[in-house]
Amino acid sequence: MTDMTGKARLIERNGVLGPTIERPIPQPRAGELLLKIHATSLNFHDLVGIDGGIRGLPVPRVPCSDASATVLTVGDGITKFAVGDAVIPNFFLNWKSGPVARDVMSPVLGDQVDGALQTHLCLKAASVVRAPAGLNHDEIATLGCAALTAWRSVVVEAQVQPGQTVVLQGTGGVSLAALAFAKMLGARVILTSSSDEKLARAKQLGADVLINYRATPDWPAAVMAATGGEGAHLVVEVGGGETLAHAIKATRLGGHISVIGVLSGYQAASFPLAMVMSKNLTVRGITVGSAANLDAMCRAIELNGYRPVIDQVFDLDHAHEAVAAMKQQKHFGKIVIRIA
Ligand SMILES: NC(=O)c1ccc[n+]([C@@H]2O[C@H](COP(=O)([O-])OP(=O)(O)OC[C@H]3O[C@@H](n4cnc5c(N)ncnc54)[C@H](OP(=O)(O)O)[C@@H]3O)[C@@H](O)[C@H]2O)c1
Repeated sequence: MTDMTGKARLIERNGVLGPTIERPIPQPRAGELLLKIHATSLNFHDLVGIDGGIRGLPVPRVPCSDASATVLTVGDGITKFAVGDAVIPNFFLNWKSGPVARDVMSPVLGDQVDGALQTHLCLKAASVVRAPAGLNHDEIATLGCAALTAWRSVVVEAQVQPGQTVVLQGTGGVSLAALAFAKMLGARVILTSSSDEKLARAKQLGADVLINYRATPDWPAAVMAATGGEGAHLVVEVGGGETLAHAIKATRLGGHISVIGVLSGYQAASFPLAMVMSKNLTVRGITVGSAANLDAMCRAIELNGYRPVIDQVFDLDHAHEAVAAMKQQKHFGKIVIRIA
């Protein structure tokens, strides 16, 4: 590799991640930063994108939205960042702050534009925030999508209070970040998993009540039993089709459900409409968050000493193995790909 070329892996066609190739390093225009990418982490969204499950995306393209990066070159007109600053790009490159709006939903890094599975990337300064101090690059690379989604659910939308109860499903990236944020706020966490071994690890991370959703398919009854018959203030719903009805049953009067994931499918097996109404539930769809949300989360992480849970680390040349490992769903926390 010469000084003028970087490395990248591209989706060559749907379902096929090509080998590592050399590419010219781009130069930043006015208002842009040239970033050196140190690491990315995989999200379910990346897997769907690589497999061609998101309509209308360009191919070939570089996938992945999460990144830990440092600033290599500062374009004209930027005063907020300097060479050497550690930064994180926001998932939605144009969503600076405020409520969701049509014009902030695109582009997504790694979808409509080349993403973070490469050594160098130019982005607008407004699309990145300062990374939290005290974390290494692997850890920083886990924050942009899964952790920000968890933050927006627990802190921004549901506004969980000390002593309230939060239900988390499984032990993937979203749920373990939500566990950390719920505990920061002094909440009680009920966590479900398919694995007793993973439940034991979640207990070490602070989960208060543990339910194996395979051994206890009626886990809403277990949530009711653990909350004196009241139910949870918030269910962070990542299961999708098979779990939404259960989430509605497990939530208390006036509670929140954050509809985030579709791990068991996009179609709800049933939707207890009368229960949503009679319990006065807020059922809130969430897609990641704004750069302002990301910045607030990073500052809170700095102050609270949160260290993300990393399951495995791969290098760029083995990124396809990282994708295969994520598909196996044996992981606990995040799968990271080191770029440089
Ligand atoms: N809306 C958004 O903005 C947004 C952002 C990030 C992620 N998501 C979505 O949220 C979901 C989770 O993402 P992630 O990154 O945390 O995924 P992940 O790291 O792959 O975690 C998946 C975990 O969820 C658990 N799980 C799988 N099927 C389940 C089911 N039927 N019921 C309950 N738990 C189940 C499993 O935990 P155990 O092995 O412990 O059972 C699995 O390890 C995905 O659908 C993803 O697309 C959405």
